[in-house]
Amino acid sequence: RQKERSVMTEAHAYAAKFYHAVLRNTAAGTGAMNYLRDRGMTDKLIEEFGLGYAPARWDTLTQALDKKGYDLSEMDRGGLLSRRHEGEGFVDRFRDRVMFPIHDGDGKIIAFAGRLMSDGQPKYLNSPESPLFSKSRTLYRFHAAKGTIRKTRQVVLLEGYMDVIKAWSAGVHNGVATMGTALTGEHASLLKRYADEAIVCYDGDDAGMAAASKSIPLLENAGFRVRVGVLPGKMDPDEYISAYGAEAYMREIVEGAVSALKFQLIYLRKSHILLEEDGKLRYLEDAIKLVARRESATERELMLKELAQEFGASTDSLKQDVFKIRQQEK
Ligand code: UTP
Ligand code: MN
Ligand code: MN
Ligand code: MN
Ligand code: MN
Repeated sequence: RQKERSVMTEAHAYAAKFYHAVLRNTAAGTGAMNYLRDRGMTDKLIEEFGLGYAPARWDTLTQALDKKGYDLSEMDRGGLLSRRHEGEGFVDRFRDRVMFPIHDGDGKIIAFAGRLMSDGQPKYLNSPESPLFSKSRTLYRFHAAKGTIRKTRQVVLLEGYMDVIKAWSAGVHNGVATMGTALTGEHASLLKRYADEAIVCYDGDDAGMAAASKSIPLLENAGFRVRVGVLPGKMDPDEYISAYGAEAYMREIVEGAVSALKFQLIYLRKSHILLEEDGKLRYLEDAIKLVARRESATERELMLKELAQEFGASTDSLKQDVFKIRQQEK
């Protein structure tokens, strides 16, 4: 099916040019241009990321692809079109959305994400799984980031398309994102060929923190050293950069990323009421379990000192607890 794949790839390149031209050169693209400007997207970023706009009509791309001689049922399988619910034929899959092209590792466009400009569901519509596109294997912007990832041996993992773009404009050129799915082992082992350190910089809301927490063992099992960039007040990187600027993001969040253990302890605090004596004790017990799991004796020691100081316990008693847990788990 090599032939089919190459036709689909060619059609994706064509669709990306089409959406981009609609955004840049037509009256239909004005609303989308205003939307992108409002979100801080410069011309340079729009070009670099190949952003576009899918018109609101039902069959603009469909007709253009038809005119070019593409087999429309093949275009449906490739994810650019959908079958009409009623009657024969096909319609555009993406309508009235801001378009983000998604590339494979070699830089070929294999899918799109389309964002609504108003509230509604789904906020982002992604291409379906297709002969070209597998979500569990694709990372947004990996093709553009991999040079820097390899050079720095470090990758920054983000949650959203906008986050990758804004982080890029802030100087994070080793940033990639999954596409609305959790990070997979496949993603991790792909990245491990290029990097040794992963900085997880997901959204600061509950969902983002939960996802960051889950990604830690996955990345560590793949052999990564993991740090986490913790965002305040449920912000995401895009919002943080808009509020505090690129330099603060780079310094405070990326360079200031905390160790995996530190993050797990920060996250653990959310499920305990530290103002209550009893909540404090249970937090400390759970915290000790997390510390006990770390392989590095130095890391355990340093964290126990911090915990002892904060909670007015002796480092020795905490050490004894850690020792007991480690004995049991041997
Ligand atoms: P978020 O809800 O955090 O959106 O989803 P966002 O990236 O901050 O988007 P903006 O700033 O409102 O535009 C994070 C990521 O999850 C995926 C997308 O990849 C998104 O960037 N997602 C989210 C979807 O695939 N579909 C959705 O409907 C929502
Ligand atoms: Mn252009
Ligand atoms: Mn989110
Ligand atoms: Mn977000
Ligand atoms: Mn956002």
